Amino acid sequence: MSSRGSCRLGVLVSGSGTNLQAIIDSIETGEINAEICCVISNNAAAYALTRAKRRGIPVVVHENKGFTDRYGYDAVTVQILRSYNVELVILAGFMRILSETMVNAFPNAIMNIHPALLPAFPGLHAQQQVLNYGVRYSGCTVHFVDSGTDTGPIILQTVVPVEQDDTEESLSARIQKVEHRTFPAAIRLYADGKLIVEGRRVRILP
Ligand code: GRF
Repeated sequence: MSSRGSCRLGVLVSGSGTNLQAIIDSIETGEINAEICCVISNNAAAYALTRAKRRGIPVVVHENKGFTDRYGYDAVTVQILRSYNVELVILAGFMRILSETMVNAFPNAIMNIHPALLPAFPGLHAQQQVLNYGVRYSGCTVHFVDSGTDTGPIILQTVVPVEQDDTEESLSARIQKVEHRTFPAAIRLYADGKLIVEGRRVRILP
């Protein structure tokens, strides 16, 4: 945790990268004292890569093919992140489950954003799970990553209502809007050295 220098981030993406964009913008406005050292994508066509290149951020396409298991793939990811001296890893729409190889290399230093209020509705298609269940509120959760799926210590959550006529698309759009301020807020706390993990609970220092 670097309250003195700026925090070195590595961002892993697979898709459109609207969260990446929100993080870039928050760094540029000075809201977060951090620097994105590299953006790594498992998908060469991810629009997130265009967003990074536009800002002169180094990008690495690291595809799954050629790897027989997650451990081998993740070992290379760790090498790339280390080569950029990354301190905090950000999963911004990275559609792969991490193995222990990654989790052990960055203990309590990998953050994910999930489009539901964990521990409810983990895994894929969280917004559709929410609609199918019929809950009245959902939102987003930023959490540290452990070796389970969406099970790590929770850092911040933001709540949104579920409307009567919501579709997966309309609910996703409402959640994404709050993701774009919740993720930068969590990264800012980390970069300022204000997050202390105490077992499952994360203490936020004043
Ligand atoms: C977000 O909705 C996030 O909750 C989920 O993946 C989506 C990524 O969107 N983990 P984007 O690529 O940041 O636009």
